[in-house]
Amino acid sequence: MAKKTILDLDIGIDDTMALMEALENPELDVIGVTTTFGNVSQATSQKNALDLTDMFGHPEVKVYPGAKHSLTDDEVYETEEDLWEIHGKNGLGEVVLPESAREAETTEAVDFLAQAIDEYGDDLTIIATGPLTNLALLEQKYPGKLKQAGNVTIMGGAVGVQGNMSPCSEANIVTDPEAAKIVLEESGAPINMVGLDVTMRVMLDRDRVNEWRKLGEIGDKLADVVNFYIDFEEKETPGLGGCSLHDPLAVAVAANPDLVTMVPLDIVVDTEGEMRGRTIGNVKTLRSSENPVNVAMMVDADRFEKQLNRDIQNIIKAAEAK
Ligand code: RIB
Ligand code: CA
Repeated sequence: MAKKTILDLDIGIDDTMALMEALENPELDVIGVTTTFGNVSQATSQKNALDLTDMFGHPEVKVYPGAKHSLTDDEVYETEEDLWEIHGKNGLGEVVLPESAREAETTEAVDFLAQAIDEYGDDLTIIATGPLTNLALLEQKYPGKLKQAGNVTIMGGAVGVQGNMSPCSEANIVTDPEAAKIVLEESGAPINMVGLDVTMRVMLDRDRVNEWRKLGEIGDKLADVVNFYIDFEEKETPGLGGCSLHDPLAVAVAANPDLVTMVPLDIVVDTEGEMRGRTIGNVKTLRSSENPVNVAMMVDADRFEKQLNRDIQNIIKAAEAK
């Protein structure tokens, strides 16, 4: 039976592909999207969640408002130019989608998460592809709740490789390290951590993206969205020819953990000084059998890339046919 799944997203371009993979993957039954800040403001993430779920023919997927800023801030988070270059100001590479007539739910993300854990317990999978603020807020409001979920898969962190925001920090973690600490160090939840160690090993190339244009108007728009992201990645790494697939890999791992090889580690999150945002295994507990975070270190890139391309094409075809 498909796993009841909540997606916690800061919708951005790779989050968009993560949403597509989740809606199309037969192992996952998406029961809601909770929204957070990160690639965009929470308000923009929420708008994108509504517009995209409608466009993909899934208006039954409800959208819940989540964190507007990190645990240590008190002002509503808005993005600046450095992020507009990666995901566009609207999170979708400035591509304008048809606007959903729906509104987000009035139930807050933390309360929806708590209710879903109460209802589904072990059968619930939570996939978080932005800063971990909503999950930390859940732990603060409902202590001990997160570990009652069946699985929490996050895109975040870098254990054996350099970071993408500083030499040691990855974007989702460094955007709210205090939240990551609560979730990864303190919650005791069953976590799969899909970080840069594996997400930089998987790629989507421009030729494949441009194939989507043949599928129709929606395919054409999505190709524009993803090409915006590829343009940025190519500027950073000339000759790359595509983009890495952070968030969609996390979704695919939640559905099929055998796509990756995982190492159990007791992850420590640094919150101070130059190391702020670093995720690293605690050497003192390496011999323990209770290391709670399964860190993905290798991936079957070929299998994942073929699966993602097939699923994205299928969801576009289904959307075009509606
Ligand atoms: O480091 C990669 C992560 O940061 C992804 O979740 C991507 O969406 C970006 O925000
Ligand atoms: Ca993301």
